[in-house]
Amino acid sequence: MTAPIPPVDLSIQHAEIAEEVEAGWAAVLAKTAFINGPQVAEFEQAYAEFSGVEHCVGVGNGTDALEFALRALLIGPGDECILPANTFIATAEAVARAGATPVFVDCDPATFLIDTKAALAAITERTKAILPVHLYGQIAPVEELRPVCAEHGVAVVEDAAQSQGARRNGVVSGSLGHIAGTSFYPGKNLGAYGDAGAVTTSDAELAERVRLLRDHGSPAKYVHSSLGFNSRLDTLQAVVLSAKLRRLAAWNAARVAAADYYAELLGAVSGVALPTTLPGNEHVWHLYVIRVAERDRVVQHLRDNGVGAAIHYPTPVHLTEPFAGAGVGAFPNAEQVAGEILSLPIYPGITRGQQERVVAVLTDALG
Ligand SMILES: Cc1ncc(COP(=O)(O)O)c(C=O)c1O
Repeated sequence: MTAPIPPVDLSIQHAEIAEEVEAGWAAVLAKTAFINGPQVAEFEQAYAEFSGVEHCVGVGNGTDALEFALRALLIGPGDECILPANTFIATAEAVARAGATPVFVDCDPATFLIDTKAALAAITERTKAILPVHLYGQIAPVEELRPVCAEHGVAVVEDAAQSQGARRNGVVSGSLGHIAGTSFYPGKNLGAYGDAGAVTTSDAELAERVRLLRDHGSPAKYVHSSLGFNSRLDTLQAVVLSAKLRRLAAWNAARVAAADYYAELLGAVSGVALPTTLPGNEHVWHLYVIRVAERDRVVQHLRDNGVGAAIHYPTPVHLTEPFAGAGVGAFPNAEQVAGEILSLPIYPGITRGQQERVVAVLTDALG
């Protein structure tokens, strides 16, 4: 019996950093510096440099990162934020939790990235931000949004949760807009050992507001200049993230190699639409998403045969209960792809043999 192939295997990454993490955690435990230990600032500095921005502010998770980015821009009730319908629900939650109104738009049918023309057409006098989501590991064409956004005073807030290290025309994820939120959920390209996230920006004022928001509005201990939240990046998580950040470029390269191998193997399989990379993008393959007919049957066949297929995401956000309103048919591309997409296992360390087995089982399902 061959071992099942999971959608993501984090144990391979852990084996590589285990000693470093143990030593780093021992240092934190020795000082009991669990909150705001020096390792947090060290990671923030390293991640800001990696992302090509002046400031990185570590927070508790990616959803908070996006909410704080919006709040730092003073976005709130009465304001509208434009975002793609096909994203993880957290993008919309962040908007709603900031008190603003999410305005969904459709996606490009080839890349599944936000339809920039639809986004620009949705701008009203209430629009305060557009949130391009760098879905599956490639960056949305933010440059198509920027000029019109600048004209209308609309901020570009990147949802960079799935794109750590990705580049667009040489510019790295998290540095293409006014401010960005990212997630270090364990399965992300840069994943912690629990929840974690960060905001990146080169705007010092926005960064300072996020620092206050994450820590009870507190510029100094027991001084509170505004209301905030409790959403700091744990020191123990910062140790893990620093160890992983040192290897992220190599791990992203391994994902690229795995994606190239899937493309080679799947080229010969009929009935599969391969993922499309937008020209100018260096994709980091957070997910390898193909399209097939009879998707649910195919997913079941893969799972029944030990291949961890997943769906990101089965329901566009405008059709989820909390955000229902626009209704079926509002965003046809997002709705159509939601019924056809399927994510094949991809992670640094997946072997060519495993990929061959994934494709063999898939071919069998489609045959
Ligand atoms: C596109 C996107 N946005 C936001 C988030 C939210 O991040 P978190 O789960 O860390 O809150 C995630 C990940 O879960 C995501 O994939």
